[in-house]
Amino acid sequence: MKTIHILNGPNLNLLGTREPDIYGHKTINDLEKMCHEKALEQSFKAIFKQTNSESILVDSIQEAIGEASAIIINAAAYSHTSIAILDALNSFEGYVVEVHISDISKREEFRKFSFVSLRADFVIMGLGLDGYIKAIDKVVEQISYK
Ligand code: DQA
Repeated sequence: MKTIHILNGPNLNLLGTREPDIYGHKTINDLEKMCHEKALEQSFKAIFKQTNSESILVDSIQEAIGEASAIIINAAAYSHTSIAILDALNSFEGYVVEVHISDISKREEFRKFSFVSLRADFVIMGLGLDGYIKAIDKVVEQISYK
């Protein structure tokens, strides 16, 4: 079974209570369940992780190397700051989808640039948690028959 690593950065553990007008009312556990179900439907295995730590996020990307067919990543605030995360993603040879729950192109200036976008094969933003479902669809479409 092909594996997708779904990696989430800082403060996404607070989904459901954090700025619900921007990020919605569903929790990270709801999101994890949705992702597992969607991946299984497509005969993929999802490994779902969340961390507040940049170094653990880098470690998680490195763990995906040689193991995952694709990475779906919402690096959250580190998207806008982390060359280390970009470097780690550049070492991964599989398909990369960047997800943002909110539309970062329509928010503060400092959110408009993402280092992750420099490596991502596809970027989804502004679709709420459904963006993760769309990201899984995109991965399946890209790599199912390879
Ligand atoms: C986010 C957008 C980022 O700017 C922010 O720092 C986050 C979440 C999103 O999913 O919309 O924590 O990545």
